[in-house]
Amino acid sequence: MEDVKCCVTSCEKPLDAAYWEAQYKTNATGWDLGKISPPLQTYIDTIENKNTAILIPGCGNSYEAEYLLEHDFTNITVIDIAPTPVSVLKEKFKNNLNIQIILGDFFEHQGKYDLIIEQTFFCALPPAMRQKYVWKMHQLLADEGKLAGLLFNRTFEVSPPFGGSIEEYEALFAAAFDFFKMNVSLNSIAPRAYSELFFELKKNNKVNVTIYQFEGITCSGCMEAVTKKFAAIDGILNVNVSSDFAEVLIVSKNEIAIAALQNAISYDQKYQIKKIN
Ligand SMILES: C[S@@+](CC[C@H](N)C(=O)[O-])C[C@H]1O[C@@H](n2cnc3c(N)ncnc32)[C@H](O)[C@@H]1O
Repeated sequence: MEDVKCCVTSCEKPLDAAYWEAQYKTNATGWDLGKISPPLQTYIDTIENKNTAILIPGCGNSYEAEYLLEHDFTNITVIDIAPTPVSVLKEKFKNNLNIQIILGDFFEHQGKYDLIIEQTFFCALPPAMRQKYVWKMHQLLADEGKLAGLLFNRTFEVSPPFGGSIEEYEALFAAAFDFFKMNVSLNSIAPRAYSELFFELKKNNKVNVTIYQFEGITCSGCMEAVTKKFAAIDGILNVNVSSDFAEVLIVSKNEIAIAALQNAISYDQKYQIKKIN
């Protein structure tokens, strides 16, 4: 699995712009396939509407964007937090009006897309950001929008990449997205064979997806108790707490008043919940 060992530490450092830029500057880019990932190529070949508004977050050298451009797609946006790959892409596609190349943080990005393509971006984020990822993806997608791509179906001794499992992803995206597909990919590159899931999720536009800051949870037992309290509130469809217990993702049929959430956890004075905008 050499290709996925993209850093040699287990990342006590923040995985910020400086971290990623240093990986590019030192050519420590083991994740970079040098070509489009075959399952993504297969998927892109099925998209008929060449004007589909497509976002590729954490794009790196984005061979996916190159493939889309070669196949006449006209509305591509790529974003990365590291200056080096963004400069390379800006130079490579400097006369191409069909692609917008952004240096920036995905979580600050604003826009509306029909399709967001996932390719080793989710696994590059600290696991505690997974709830925020779901919330942000839901925000950035148009009403009929889809999130599609690859997720690892394994764990790693050295991270990033951070792995996961179908069960975890199903619990994470539940209710916010409709699951069209989440299967072991059959045409991954050899070093990733059978360790990637190809997924296609459609935004559930009938629900509110909200992320909250949470204070006071110190163990998984408390986390489970808090989850149950929230899940029992009328209209709440899914509750998912981040691995550091600092954020809670709530999917609901309608907007839930913050007072109702606070009230549900009032049995313990140290619990505080606050909406993140
Ligand atoms: C493992 S690399 C994958 C790059 C590319 N998708 C590929 O498969 O070759 C993760 C990428 O995400 C970018 N990244 C990490 N955090 C980001 C953020 N918050 N916003 C935008 N890009 C981010 C990094 O700079 C890096 O290019």
